[in-house]
Amino acid sequence: MPDEWSDQQFAEDWDSGGATKHPVRKEHLDILLSIISSNYSSGKYILDLGYGSGQVEEMIYQRIPDARIVGTDNSDVMIRLSKKRLGDKFSKLTVINHGLENVESLKLPKVNYQYVISVQALHHLKHDQQKDIFKFAYNTLEIGGSFIFIDRIALDIKTFEKPYKAIYENMFGKAFEEYVKDIAQKEDYPASPEEHIAWLERIGFKATCLNKKFDRAFIVGIKA
Ligand SMILES: C[S@@+](CC[C@H](N)C(=O)[O-])C[C@H]1O[C@@H](n2cnc3c(N)ncnc32)[C@H](O)[C@@H]1O
Repeated sequence: MPDEWSDQQFAEDWDSGGATKHPVRKEHLDILLSIISSNYSSGKYILDLGYGSGQVEEMIYQRIPDARIVGTDNSDVMIRLSKKRLGDKFSKLTVINHGLENVESLKLPKVNYQYVISVQALHHLKHDQQKDIFKFAYNTLEIGGSFIFIDRIALDIKTFEKPYKAIYENMFGKAFEEYVKDIAQKEDYPASPEEHIAWLERIGFKATCLNKKFDRAFIVGIKA
């Protein structure tokens, strides 16, 4: 069963607690924030694909009050939650309600994009759709701009079951079998970091995986 972002209860549960259940999310958001806050050029734009309830935007505005951000999402519920979270800062954000499976029809303000980011928003899309989004990110960015992609990745559980089980149980204090069952029933298409990097390089990015822990990776592509 896919995640139900248009369901009020599902979205509220994720926003109020589910998001923080994975210990690596905080680590990756800290890295994202430190990269952006030390390199952002005033007046340029950040595009956030699948910006959700505005958790990342709240953090960016705390560090860079004048940051210019365009956020896209296709869940009215998540967009409403972002309005509530951001309060008077919501008016600074340009929100576009659009589905990422049709990224080619996404019309953006014509401005300079220094960053395109996407956090935990693409792994349920088919690989060809993810590649189209990477291409869209490349075409959107200015030269020297960065695509920062943080998401769940595919694990080869069949081959590496024992070490993954040890890591998972150490990290979460829960039985690994629960995780395996949970991801098996999701209709997701995560890819490995190696696949993501190959897709990015084929498009023209210089790409690397900056950090990987268990099933989460932090990947960056620079438009050289
Ligand atoms: C796990 S949440 C992450 C939200 C935000 N990026 C964050 O990390 O706080 C995933 C978000 O992606 C959005 N999303 C999922 N599929 C989408 C699609 N096909 N088009 C646009 N947004 C989508 C959902 O509505 C949800 O807000």
